[in-house]
Amino acid sequence: MLALVAMRSIVPMINPRDFLTQLLYPYDSFTALRTDFGPVSYNERARFWEVFEYDDVLRVASEHETFSSDGSKFAAHPEEFTKGQSILTTDPPRHRQLRSLVSQAFTPRAIASIAPRIAAITHNLLDQVAEQGSMDIIADLSYPLPVIVISELLGVPSEDRARFKRWSDDIVFSEYDDLSSGNLEEYNERVRITVRRTLDELYDYFRVVLAERRLQPRQDLVSELLAAQIEGQSLSEAEILAFCTLLLIAGNITTTNLIGNALLCFDEQPEVMDQLAKSPELLPQAIEEVLRYRSPALLVGRYATREVELHGQTIPTGQMVIGWISSANFDPCAFPQPEVFDITRTPNRHLAFGHGIHFCLGAPLARLEAKIALGILLERFQQIRRKRDQPVETIHSAFILGPKHCPVTFKAR
Ligand code: HEM
Repeated sequence: MLALVAMRSIVPMINPRDFLTQLLYPYDSFTALRTDFGPVSYNERARFWEVFEYDDVLRVASEHETFSSDGSKFAAHPEEFTKGQSILTTDPPRHRQLRSLVSQAFTPRAIASIAPRIAAITHNLLDQVAEQGSMDIIADLSYPLPVIVISELLGVPSEDRARFKRWSDDIVFSEYDDLSSGNLEEYNERVRITVRRTLDELYDYFRVVLAERRLQPRQDLVSELLAAQIEGQSLSEAEILAFCTLLLIAGNITTTNLIGNALLCFDEQPEVMDQLAKSPELLPQAIEEVLRYRSPALLVGRYATREVELHGQTIPTGQMVIGWISSANFDPCAFPQPEVFDITRTPNRHLAFGHGIHFCLGAPLARLEAKIALGILLERFQQIRRKRDQPVETIHSAFILGPKHCPVTFKAR
């Protein structure tokens, strides 16, 4: 849980209002941050180190012996970490064991088998708005699609998705992320209370599901996790609960924002939207450029396991280090003309899914969902244009980027 609290405390690093509103154009925001703070800097107020350049972010994300994902090793109250520890917050060898248990379910091959179901859900969602000539891309498509898909994979009723959304929102962002007043300690305490309450609710929910699956296993991920063994040992209930929670949250918020961000990017260049409608085979590459240009996940967080020297600065053992993915994705040393949204960009070695042993497990699923959803949207509707009279408001989160709403008009083909 502390990992979540620590991540949430990133918000106050600069005037939060500016940060959140300017994030609509992340290139401008992150170029300004890199220029103001240099490649590496210590954030006095939030008490962590920030790393902005591509090579350094790559190193922080992947050099797990130096940059640990497990904050409990350095916490004053490690017992606070018993809830919420998952593969995301463990190091080898435990990480390798946990990941091997679930990676089979998420390979591109395994995921390809659910493509027809993703297409059917997308058609069903678009059927509900086709006659209207207008829709909110977020509420009508990009939120419900991933949450239905991950619910079905886990084996929990997708009708509970209003609850999933509330829990995800409470963990990832909330209205009090606006920190224009108040101090960091008070803010962290509020976050701690909300995250703890939300995890209690989520865990109570999944405990009931686990009890049901123990009695009657099904063909779903929860049943697989219950049956899974590492060297003859089953996963503990806490590990299964943490994993289900991670999948439910990671599996919906990020993909929602990938689809929302794609619409924002395409809308800024209507000729790209038309080109993609005519040549849908260009979509996968266009989606990679959206991932670079408007990365749904803004950062990775780690803890220095030893004193590390970076650009002449010394990061002491145990301190938190934030690698800004979005900043790395605009580093001119890694991407020529980083400010240009170019769907033909090759190579495109963006860090939107992280790098190294913690590389996003759900990347094949997120890519497939985005490709199918956007492909069907462009195939069925034409002249999709964002409603200009409604300014885009981005969600209030320090580590997720995307539009809160994206109302568009269109003509059904
Ligand atoms: C890890 C981003 C979709 C599950 C990560 C990481 C990033 C990321 C940056 C690395 C975190 C780190 O190194 O600390 C994204 C983005 C997505 C997306 C941008 C959508 C566009 C998904 C989906 C799922 C998922 C759909 C599951 C269904 C996970 C898991 C991890 C992870 C389980 C932890 C992997 C590990 O620690 O070994 N994701 N993610 N993600 N993601 Fe995703």
